[in-house]
Amino acid sequence: MVPSGFMNIAHRGASAYAPENTFSAFDKALALGVNQVELDVHLSEDGHIVVIHDDAVDRTTNGSGPVSGHTLAQLRTLDAGSWFEPEFVGEGIRSLGEVLERYKGRLYLHIEIKGRGEGLTQRTVDLVRGYGMADSVSITSFQASRLIEVRAYAPDIPSGWLVRDWDDSVLGESEEMNLAMICPRADLVTPELVDRVHRDGFLVRAWGVSTEELMEQVVEAGADGMTVNFPDKLIAYLERK
Ligand code: G3P
Ligand code: CA
Repeated sequence: MVPSGFMNIAHRGASAYAPENTFSAFDKALALGVNQVELDVHLSEDGHIVVIHDDAVDRTTNGSGPVSGHTLAQLRTLDAGSWFEPEFVGEGIRSLGEVLERYKGRLYLHIEIKGRGEGLTQRTVDLVRGYGMADSVSITSFQASRLIEVRAYAPDIPSGWLVRDWDDSVLGESEEMNLAMICPRADLVTPELVDRVHRDGFLVRAWGVSTEELMEQVVEAGADGMTVNFPDKLIAYLERK
């Protein structure tokens, strides 16, 4: 199920304050009083689902090369924290299983299928089900093909389409896929767009909230939620309203 109320979703964890997609970032979200996080998944060379944004490890670790060119054991040796700030040295890349294990009952997870590895969608669903967490995750992707897989394999798990550009064909395609959410880029979110999407029965969950101004624009447009790197600022804004 989709969480009720406005969805304040810590993007890759509270990634303004801790290295993205790590325990530190997810712990920080909880510490800020947020109970929803977004994270990205890829497949390792040996078929494990790992939590990392980019196709390659270069930007967010001390390693190099594609995620899919490393086994889980090799990924575990990398430092995924010190690129962000020295105090996070030793932070590691986590498997999705480790994340589910650690945060079950504490966080609702918005899982983005980012990688393109064969079977990634189905394995993600299997793992979520294995932890009994089908009622506390959503699955999103920019890849419509992944969403079609999710809908066929896990019709009980709400899904959302991340879209970079808008045209009204998004609505028809989302209806065909029977999605719960449409996730437009934040700068596209206007009251008119939200109204149009709501009339067709979808929730609006924005992404790409790079400034507080955009954050406020998304709220004022009447959207249902957003991923945001600084969820504490969103809490404060919603309280002031
Ligand atoms: O909230 C979705 C957002 O995470 C999509 O963009 O590049 O951060 O994965 P990206
Ligand atoms: Ca993402």
